[in-house]
Amino acid sequence: MLGVCYYPEHWPEAEWKDNARRMAEMGLSTVRIGEFAWSRIEPKDSATGIPAYEWGWLDRAIDVLGAAGLKVVLGTPTATPPKWLVDKYPGILPVDKEGRVRGFGSRRHYDFSSPDYRRESARIVTAMAERYGSNPHVAYWQIDNEFGCHDTIRSYSPAALARFRQWLARRYEGSIEKLNAAWGNVFWSMEFNGFDEVSLPNLTVTESGPSHRLDYFRFASDEAADYCRMQVEILRRHTKADVTHNYMGFTWTFDHFDMHNEGGLDFASWDSYPLGFTREQPFEPEEKTAYAFTGHPDIAAFHHDLYRAVGRGRFWVMEQQPGPVNWADHNTVPLPGMVRLWTWQALSHGAEVVSYFRWKQAYFAQEQYHAGLTRVDNERDVGGEEAATVAGELKQLALPPVQQAPVALVIDYSSQWMTAIQPQSATFNYSMLAFRWYEAARKLGLDIDIVPPGADLAGYKLVLVPTLIAPTAAALKALASSGAATLIGPRSGSKTIDYQIPRTLAPGEMAAITGHKVLRSDAMPPGIVKPVKGGNLKGEVTCWRDLSEVAAGTEVLASFEDGWPAVLKRGKVVTLTGKADGGLVGTLIRQMAQEAGVAVTELDGDLRLRRRGDIVFCINSSEKPARAPAPEGTSFLLGGREVPPAGVSAWRQP
Ligand code: GAL
Repeated sequence: MLGVCYYPEHWPEAEWKDNARRMAEMGLSTVRIGEFAWSRIEPKDSATGIPAYEWGWLDRAIDVLGAAGLKVVLGTPTATPPKWLVDKYPGILPVDKEGRVRGFGSRRHYDFSSPDYRRESARIVTAMAERYGSNPHVAYWQIDNEFGCHDTIRSYSPAALARFRQWLARRYEGSIEKLNAAWGNVFWSMEFNGFDEVSLPNLTVTESGPSHRLDYFRFASDEAADYCRMQVEILRRHTKADVTHNYMGFTWTFDHFDMHNEGGLDFASWDSYPLGFTREQPFEPEEKTAYAFTGHPDIAAFHHDLYRAVGRGRFWVMEQQPGPVNWADHNTVPLPGMVRLWTWQALSHGAEVVSYFRWKQAYFAQEQYHAGLTRVDNERDVGGEEAATVAGELKQLALPPVQQAPVALVIDYSSQWMTAIQPQSATFNYSMLAFRWYEAARKLGLDIDIVPPGADLAGYKLVLVPTLIAPTAAALKALASSGAATLIGPRSGSKTIDYQIPRTLAPGEMAAITGHKVLRSDAMPPGIVKPVKGGNLKGEVTCWRDLSEVAAGTEVLASFEDGWPAVLKRGKVVTLTGKADGGLVGTLIRQMAQEAGVAVTELDGDLRLRRRGDIVFCINSSEKPARAPAPEGTSFLLGGREVPPAGVSAWRQP
């Protein structure tokens, strides 16, 4: 269940055998290679036009790793087109929003829409698939590396424009009138007479049309999935091995559910760097300090649950932070124990494999400050010791299958795009809103399944919808028919799928389940706090308030000081009209869970629980010890009653 990322091309061949032996000794069973190795697989274009592949080194590397008992995950090398290829086809390079060509010299310097790049990608993938498709050591394939890393989903190139126009013609069934109406192009004389007149939504004098941008975001997301599918289809012709792609944390520029389904992948994987994410994401300064050496306790868990959903139950951690990283503004050393903790946490959420990035720290190039499982002097680093510890523990503990959670959290990529297009309140951040709701539920010891909008909600007792800006008919139907207690957040139903205001006002057709109508929304700057009170409910709203009228049959559970309703209830659906603090969201989740018969647990300190089958894992991502809420007389499978900083305890549910 453990693995590692390895770059044989970085090290003398004489070291490979010893590396492989020590990987196996550490208890690792998979090794990912190849994803940046294009310049070594095909060092130059042959003068005759016949591709000059150099397979020898890769054949030998795979043999050596396989002979040590490791299963190879082979990456297609398309994240890093080599210099000669870029020089031959300069149109491969992507163009940024300011219209500048993004250059060679790092990675991800390609455009998903470039016909030359699609053809060249197909060629290299075909060549690799032909060579290794039936190699007995190559057990899995990874497509490319981290789609979207370094802001590379959206390119403003001539190639993107050409394919965007085709995409629009399909979406609007060849009718430019339909497009003009959907985008509201009569506004500011933006009307087009044909699809060949449509431009990309960048470099405009002021804000470009919001519907124009939304369609461009959708197109860019589809384009990445289409590119992935092209590679998957080639692999399918040559191998029976499972194919994945390694996603990232907090990445919203493409719809990961679409990528998995349209891209045709077998399982999801993701790259988990909790300390870097804690620095780089908009956490509060106090949180950045409190979790400097552990990472925020819910970051990895949120993504495990997200990617378990994306992979339809199957996910790996393809890259696990093994020590300090190099890419955040400050890069701390994880508290001793955290690498073990992150591994157990991933397994408790259902990861099939946890693979560390990387085997050996590189003493050259961009990532010199990034730790590996082994150091530059070839000795085991702290992360390597902790990986070996988990490998030993895993021998004693068989992990049962993952069961459905009682709580579903609806995550919607379109809602991120729509709120980013016109935030209205600059601090309204969909990603953090969804994350804070997740955190509030996790602090109550609840297990969560993340689901896309429209997913079947059967079996869930509580459904959380932080916001759903433009619900589709399928999403509305799923919510209306679930019968579960449902908590819905602000701004829901505020747009149509074309990015217009519903003629009946927000929440549009969702009003049938929420029983309210939003007359206007108050988008408030930081520093403005609106208290909320009613019955036993008490809390605060910042940033966003939907000033709402309530339909007959809808109860007002709490209000703002100026009388506007803050918390509404209609049947089993509770609506929060503002962006509420974690305390208020937590109170509502606690009450709704209890009413729905879902047990909540008051947890000590920063503890979190996660159940896998009948095993309860209790995880302490903090610098303070805490007490595990295990029943009296429990005999522990891992750890004990006192969970030390960076500690993990586990027991069987009686
Ligand atoms: C990931 C990437 C790896 C490596 C790593 C460093 O984003 O896939 O190649 O750069 O970050 O943390």
